[in-house]
Amino acid sequence: MKLKGKKTLITGTATGIGREIALRFATTGAEIVAVDWDEKNNKDTAAQIISRGGRCGAITADVSSETDVTRIFDAAGQIDILINNAATVQGDGYLMELSGENWDRVLAICLKSVFLCTREALKSMVPRKAGAIVNLSSANALMGINLAAYTAAKGGIISLTRLTAAHYARYGIRANVICPGTIGSESSELYYQEHPELGAQLRALYPGGQFGKVQDVAACALFLASDDAAFINGAVIPVDGALTASHRIPSLNP
Ligand SMILES: NC(=O)c1ccc[n+]([C@@H]2O[C@H](COP(=O)([O-])OP(=O)(O)OC[C@H]3O[C@@H](n4cnc5c(N)ncnc54)[C@H](O)[C@@H]3O)[C@@H](O)[C@H]2O)c1
Repeated sequence: MKLKGKKTLITGTATGIGREIALRFATTGAEIVAVDWDEKNNKDTAAQIISRGGRCGAITADVSSETDVTRIFDAAGQIDILINNAATVQGDGYLMELSGENWDRVLAICLKSVFLCTREALKSMVPRKAGAIVNLSSANALMGINLAAYTAAKGGIISLTRLTAAHYARYGIRANVICPGTIGSESSELYYQEHPELGAQLRALYPGGQFGKVQDVAACALFLASDDAAFINGAVIPVDGALTASHRIPSLNP
């Protein structure tokens, strides 16, 4: 029961990695506040946790909206752990084909949400001189592949997290980043079914020949949020099966 009694607010819990983090944290004693704008599936996440004996409340909200984020934290009360996980790639694409409107939307959902939620969480963490924040970036931020707005937002998350760590360590607060490689979540699997050539090309870049699982990311988030990671602050941790470590030059790296 590593996180016994720790109130943990997680964004993007209706599906995928966020749902898995919520389920995993609940089994270690955390009280989950599950936030997503997909009310139906988010309530399902909460119901799954409660049916397994865990504690979870679901909040329906848009994490890119300042008004909604204020409402979320007013309802949640004091937070011990924040996991900024919600994101989107909808409307994103190659830089020269991207509209300003879609850029703004993706940046708002992927990056502004992290700023808004972090700011509100710090208000309850700083006075108590304790707190852990785990932000979901992406291998995209370390590599520069397609999806211009998403990649820029995920790079911004790394910088914002390191700034948070540097400024708030004196208050006993830690902030770390996970950079997943391709993870077989529902949405990514759907995406690669629709873009099979891209999926095959991408899989070939993985030195182990396979994508990761939502459980791989949840395990890392649990470690970073727990006291086991007490001296890990401002770290950027790839969970990517050596994708970003490899040269991807076949003759040099067979
Ligand atoms: N799956 C991957 O391959 C992969 C790879 C690298 C990084 N990541 C990162 O991991 C995190 C989770 O990825 P995933 O694949 O589980 O994503 P997903 O698309 O399956 O889930 C994202 C969740 O966020 C919610 N959401 C989106 N916008 C929201 C908003 N404005 N307000 C509230 N909720 C909102 C969605 O409803 C959804 O439930 C994301 O930050 C993603 O960028 C994923």
